[in-house]
Amino acid sequence: MIPYGRQDISDEDVAAVVATLKSDWLTQGPAIPAFEQAVMAACDAPYAVAVNSATSALHIACLALGVGPGDIAWTVPISFVASSNCALYCGATIDFVDVEPDTGNIDPAALEAKLIDAERSGTLPKVLIPVLYTGRAHDQARVHALCSRYGIKIIEDASHAIGGSGEGGEAVGSCRWCDIAVFSFHPVKIVTTAEGGMAMTRDPELATRLQDFRSHGITKDRARLVEPDAGGWYYEQHSLGLNYRITDMQAILGVSQMKRLVPFIERRNEIANRYDELLASAPLTRPPLVRGTGAVSAWHLYVIQLDPANDGALRRAWFDGLRARGIGVQVHYIPIHHQPYYQQLGFERGMFPAAERFYNGALSIPMFAAMTDDEQDRVVAAIGEVAGETC
Ligand SMILES: Cc1ncc(COP(=O)(O)O)c(C=O)c1O
Repeated sequence: MIPYGRQDISDEDVAAVVATLKSDWLTQGPAIPAFEQAVMAACDAPYAVAVNSATSALHIACLALGVGPGDIAWTVPISFVASSNCALYCGATIDFVDVEPDTGNIDPAALEAKLIDAERSGTLPKVLIPVLYTGRAHDQARVHALCSRYGIKIIEDASHAIGGSGEGGEAVGSCRWCDIAVFSFHPVKIVTTAEGGMAMTRDPELATRLQDFRSHGITKDRARLVEPDAGGWYYEQHSLGLNYRITDMQAILGVSQMKRLVPFIERRNEIANRYDELLASAPLTRPPLVRGTGAVSAWHLYVIQLDPANDGALRRAWFDGLRARGIGVQVHYIPIHHQPYYQQLGFERGMFPAAERFYNGALSIPMFAAMTDDEQDRVVAAIGEVAGETC
């Protein structure tokens, strides 16, 4: 089976992890700050807090921004449930903004309309969590301008998007257009630490809160201690944090992987361009071109659309046909508000029509830096066969 995504682990990566295993530090050693430094340098951001998953990073991002009971958070329906669950963990209420029909990213026009309504009804959110779906930045400047107008904080869920840049050329994760940006280092993502995540920010106070929430709300920073002279063993708990720490073994893999961030992104862009050529006459809609002169997609996913007006039947036929031919296609994502858990919260099908249409047609075909041209040709040939049978 050619998977839709997978890690690319080099001998150098393996040697780095082995060296850490043989070192004095398995958990909280020098690899974690080194990994944070590598990501800060790549993203041009002054603060980074590495944690054990993007889910954890999203949770502490909400906590750091003071999201709690009585607050409202908005995200998009086309994402993994983590983008939305993070606000629920804090006791907040969640709602969704519909997506653009072509990119699957947040629709700024839908956001604007919803903000106007929310202001009237006194239900403005405290935080917006846009998702850089497939590694492509949304219209960050417009979303930022809208949120600034209403005093709303932004957490960018950039789980798919390390190594990419926005329409003006700013690196994703630089936090030019948000308060906090979050990355995932799951194996299918651009770079991996097995499980892992990171929260980026430009705000030193947010960075301190993120660091505290990562580890039980505990600090050893003498400048912040109530009793700074209590002794060398001394620490204080200042907030109710968690154990979301990443290990040195994972972080050193991240350090090693970050050395190949640029070639990973180049290869993913090469694969996307090649799909664009090879699928030019196939009966499907290819992902739209990236907007803006400076924009670069990280191409975490290459999502084709099949007959977007349909009820999902054609996508089902292609999914089954391609899986039967050894092509590990996947669907990203089942709209979050369709999940039974979210239906219990009061969400119903039909509430976010653009997201639902997008879902019905969406199919992720294999996209990963280590994919060979031969593997890509097999994907394209299988698509030709399935199209011949179904269209
Ligand atoms: C958009 C998005 N947000 C958050 C997550 C959660 O990432 P992690 O598995 O690192 O917790 C994922 C994982 O697939 C994701 O795709």
